[in-house]
Amino acid sequence: MVQPDHTHAPRPVPSPYTGRQEIDLDVVREMLSHFTYSDHEEAQELILSALQEINEHFGWVSFEAAEIVADHLGTSATRVFAILTFYADFRTTPRGHHHMLLCHGMSCYVMGSSKLVQKVRDEYGIGDGDTTPDNQLSVQVANFCLGVCDRSPVVKIDDEYYGHVDPENLTDLVNRAIAGREAMQASEVNHG
Ligand code: FES
Repeated sequence: MVQPDHTHAPRPVPSPYTGRQEIDLDVVREMLSHFTYSDHEEAQELILSALQEINEHFGWVSFEAAEIVADHLGTSATRVFAILTFYADFRTTPRGHHHMLLCHGMSCYVMGSSKLVQKVRDEYGIGDGDTTPDNQLSVQVANFCLGVCDRSPVVKIDDEYYGHVDPENLTDLVNRAIAGREAMQASEVNHG
């Protein structure tokens, strides 16, 4: 379950981020076709799961996609928008080309994740939910455990986890992670 931003409760780790940004509304419709229900009450209970699935797949939920959710589940777009904007884990704008999830769960907090949040702000001028002006990097501060506390403090850049992160080395780490990711993507294109 997605958690409101004022909790620190554990939640499942999202699916690997794939770098997709544009939301294909036909894919949204296909995803929603698996959400079946027998009455209005059951449909209401599916709103959160449907939004969560779209958010994890594309990295964000557009208002057009939210309208399709409302239509599919027989509810008002206003209600779906209200849920979408209430939960901090949902994004209503696309992520940058690369995405950093910065764990701020209890163990990482104790091990100094606040310094990492500050370092990102100092170095890139962005905070939770923001994207750099060149659209290269977006950051999300996760108020939930990423499930690898023995490596606290932890950041996840695209689909890789990095543990025992030192604020002094964070910029290097981000640069190396982005370079590695882009080299891998280039190799896939060349061999594809
Ligand atoms: S609290 Fe950060 S990995 Fe568990």
